[in-house]
Amino acid sequence: MMISQVNFGYPWFLSYGHLTITAAMLVLFLAGYARKWSRTLMVLIGAVAVWSFTGFLAARFVLDINGRVALPTQAFLPSGKGRVLDMGAGTGRSTFMVLEARPQTTVVALDLFGDSYERHFGPGTSGQERLVANLRAAGLEQRTTIQTGDMRKLPFEPATFDAAVSAYAIDHLNRTGITASLAEASRVLKPGGEFLLMLIGKDPWLYFTFGPLLVHSGTLPPARWTNFLQAAGFQVIEQGRRPATLYFLARKP
Ligand SMILES: C[S@@+](CC[C@H](N)C(=O)[O-])C[C@H]1O[C@@H](n2cnc3c(N)ncnc32)[C@H](O)[C@@H]1O
Repeated sequence: MMISQVNFGYPWFLSYGHLTITAAMLVLFLAGYARKWSRTLMVLIGAVAVWSFTGFLAARFVLDINGRVALPTQAFLPSGKGRVLDMGAGTGRSTFMVLEARPQTTVVALDLFGDSYERHFGPGTSGQERLVANLRAAGLEQRTTIQTGDMRKLPFEPATFDAAVSAYAIDHLNRTGITASLAEASRVLKPGGEFLLMLIGKDPWLYFTFGPLLVHSGTLPPARWTNFLQAAGFQVIEQGRRPATLYFLARKP
C-alpha cells in the first residue's frame, strides 16, 4: 500500500542549508586545532559555527516553512463556515491552514502555477498535481477546488466569496500588482466578507538567519499595507505579528 505524505515542497536549504555551513566550520575547526591556527581565526570559525547552528534552529523550528502554518487570528471566520478564496495557494500550505482550522469551509485554491510557482517549489510535476497530491494525502480534496488564474484579475463573479486569504503571495507583486490584487479581493467578497492578508514579517531574527536572502519586493512598512487595504475599500479590523509574519484582518463594508 502506498502511503502518501503532505509535502509543501519549499526547498530543503531553507530548512537545512545552515547545517552545511556548520559542518564545514566543524571540519575547519578540527583542522585548525590540529595545525595550531591563530586564536583569532579559531574564534572566527567558532562564531560562524554558532551563527549557522542557531540559524538552523530558527529556520527549522521557528520558520518551519514546510510545516503547517496556524491561523494568525481566531477572529478570522469565527462562524467556521463559508466559501473561501486562497489567492496564491502554491502547494497548499495556506489552503490547509483554512480547511483545518475551519472545518466547515470550502476553499477555492487559486494560483498561476507559472514561473513564480517554479521559483518557489522547483520544476517537477505540474503545480496542480502537487497541490492535489497534498490535499489527497490529508483527505481535504473534497473541500477544495483548484483554479489556475491570476490574482490581479480574478476569474470570478463579484460578491461570490465569504472570505479570502492570501499568504506570502501578494508581497511578491509590484505596487501595481498589489493594488490590483487587493481591489480584486474586495470585488469578489460579499459585503461583510473578511480578508486575511499574511505577509513576510521583517523580524530581526529572520534577518539574522537569512540576511540579504530575505529581501522580498513587498516587505513594506505596516502602514503602507494599511493604506493599500483602505484604498481597496477594506476596513482593517486587526493587525499583528506572528513569527516571520505580518498579518492584517480586514473586512469589506
Ligand atoms: C511563496 S508562495 C505562497 C504559497 C502559499 N500561499 C503558502 O502559504 O505556502 C507564493 C505563491 O503565489 C503565487 N503567485 C504569484 N503571483 C501570482 C499571481 N499573480 N496570481 C496567482 N498566484 C500568484 C506563486 O505561484 C506561488 O505559488
